[in-house]
Amino acid sequence: MSNPTQVHAIEALLSEERRFPPPPEVTAQANAQPGIHARAEADPLAFWQSWALQLEWFKPPEQILEWNEPFARWFADGELNASVNALDRHVQAGRAATVAFYFEGEPGDRWTVTYGQLLDDVCRFANGLRALGVKKGDRVAIYLPMIVELPIAMLACARIGAAHSVIFGGFSADSIVDRVNDSQCVALITADAGWRRGKPVPLKANVDEAFTKGMPSLQTVIVARRVGTPVDLVAGRDRWWDDVVRDQPSICEPERMNAEDLLFLLYTSGTTAKPKGIMHTTGGYLTGVTATHKLVFDLKATADVFWCTADIGWVTGHSYIVYGPLCNGATSVLYEGSPDYPAFDRFWEIVERYRVTILYTAPTAIRTFMKWGAEWPNKHDLSSLRLLGSVGEPINPEAWMWYRDVIGKGRCPVLDTWWQTETGSIMIAPLPGITTLKPGSATQPFPGIGVDIVNEAGATVAPPGGGYIVLTRPWPAMLRGIYGDPERYEQTYWSRFPHRYLAGDGCSRDTDGDYWFLGRIDDVMNISGHRISTAEVESALVAHPAVAEAAVVGKIDDVTGHAVCAFVSVRGDAVGSPELGKELREHVGRRLGKFTAPKYVTFTQELPKTRSGKIMRRLLRDIAEGRMLGDTTTLADSGVVAELQARAKAEAAKEE
Ligand code: PRX
Repeated sequence: MSNPTQVHAIEALLSEERRFPPPPEVTAQANAQPGIHARAEADPLAFWQSWALQLEWFKPPEQILEWNEPFARWFADGELNASVNALDRHVQAGRAATVAFYFEGEPGDRWTVTYGQLLDDVCRFANGLRALGVKKGDRVAIYLPMIVELPIAMLACARIGAAHSVIFGGFSADSIVDRVNDSQCVALITADAGWRRGKPVPLKANVDEAFTKGMPSLQTVIVARRVGTPVDLVAGRDRWWDDVVRDQPSICEPERMNAEDLLFLLYTSGTTAKPKGIMHTTGGYLTGVTATHKLVFDLKATADVFWCTADIGWVTGHSYIVYGPLCNGATSVLYEGSPDYPAFDRFWEIVERYRVTILYTAPTAIRTFMKWGAEWPNKHDLSSLRLLGSVGEPINPEAWMWYRDVIGKGRCPVLDTWWQTETGSIMIAPLPGITTLKPGSATQPFPGIGVDIVNEAGATVAPPGGGYIVLTRPWPAMLRGIYGDPERYEQTYWSRFPHRYLAGDGCSRDTDGDYWFLGRIDDVMNISGHRISTAEVESALVAHPAVAEAAVVGKIDDVTGHAVCAFVSVRGDAVGSPELGKELREHVGRRLGKFTAPKYVTFTQELPKTRSGKIMRRLLRDIAEGRMLGDTTTLADSGVVAELQARAKAEAAKEE
């Protein structure tokens, strides 16, 4: 927290004086009523139990929490199925004709999928999976674009008790290999390609490349046809989606799952090069996402059109495109493509077309829209909007105000929501109708969530003040661990401060008890809301034959939050030329995914190291961001720094 940028940020944020109390008309009809925080705080277990019991159970739970720190079991004697909660329940309640998704493909193809159709499709695909030998307890990888087959595949896995592991479509072959092998997936579901800015993005070809590196557990690959590009099918292993569902009945008996059975794995970046398989189980996760979706977004199933613009490949899409909205019987938009295709008003055209009432997007998108200018949203009728959400990174007050004024026309509360892959559901956010909003603050913990701000020694920092944000008690949607590595789970989250969960973010708390996020305190970068560790990019770089050593830092970027900034020393007679810089960017993009490719590559004879040989990352971050350097006396060779500063400056100038 001694990073000067963050110190500056704390002062700037805490001097923010604008206040937006809840409008009386919002309070009058809101799902969350005043007193909810105090009631939940008085008895958090009773609060969560009341939400759990709103789900549909084969066997309702009598137990609430078993806490064997840091391992939690919630509602552990209950039995349920996630797909029944997402689909059957609404169909049985006479809502088969209600729209579950308005699908909008990037090229402009559109169709609506009702709850009745979705249930049929899920059952047929689930039967197809069973026929291929996928069974309860297996893991299934899903590598699909943002098309309806993605939620169908997830829910079909849930129906037959197989855990899904969705791999973001922007990742490439190596990332697929790591994830599939770590959890020994038996099947993988993909598509020929997806659409991105008018061009096909190959997916099956990436899977084929991944196979060349070895994925021995995979028996079956299922390929959905999206774009129509030619693909190679390996006989006996690969088959078309259409063939898998052909002749399958549209009734599929759901597995009775224990509340603590694994629902899904989602890999996320930590501080090492190896991504962590975050485990989420069935009962607690569904309780958390249902409660938060209904209260934070004030969801009215019969009136709202909800649009979360995230990709389902990240946790936001899991919780607030698939499980939260479907469990609440909501109507959502599912959009395949990017916000600038074919023009800068694509999002606003979609809001207008479907009369979207609740929009949930990321600060990086909002800052990009600001850059493009108000004329794009102003071309469209956005009067259907009533709530605006933000997630993924700290939202700066200017972007918050622009979102409120230009998109929400000053009418719509802006809800900044803080949470993580690990937390499963929203942890800190305003509740419409209750919370007074402040531009740039995520405001208050969700009812039942225990939060504190602590210093290095683990003592509470009295407000106003900043430090490490920790969670002080278990919550239903919390991760149950890291797949195959319980020690890493304890070590990463529960060892820094005893009895408290370390989130890894710096945060400040004001005298009203409102929270202001400052960014990560570790080596995790946040690029356009996509989480990636410096170590992952470093290990991709050093795998290139010309690279001797590499150090990567996240450089603060006005639009994307962080930009990947690499310092590289080359091997032997390799030359740190602009051509090599380009090649390295492409190399990282190929190995990890395009969004991880370094924006800046600075070559150096040697990386700055301490005398004990540790790379001085903080120094590199200072160099990357053009700050004055502090004490460099621990450096082994102080000449390195002057050279690096000059080169990094030249590299940054090239970009601008
Ligand atoms: O640093 C925080 C940032 O995103 C991290 C979690 O990333 P991920 O697991 O990919 O999940 C992102 C979507 C939930 C956090 O540790 N972050 C997320 N939301 C916010 C945020 N930082 C500040 N404000 C937020 N609203």
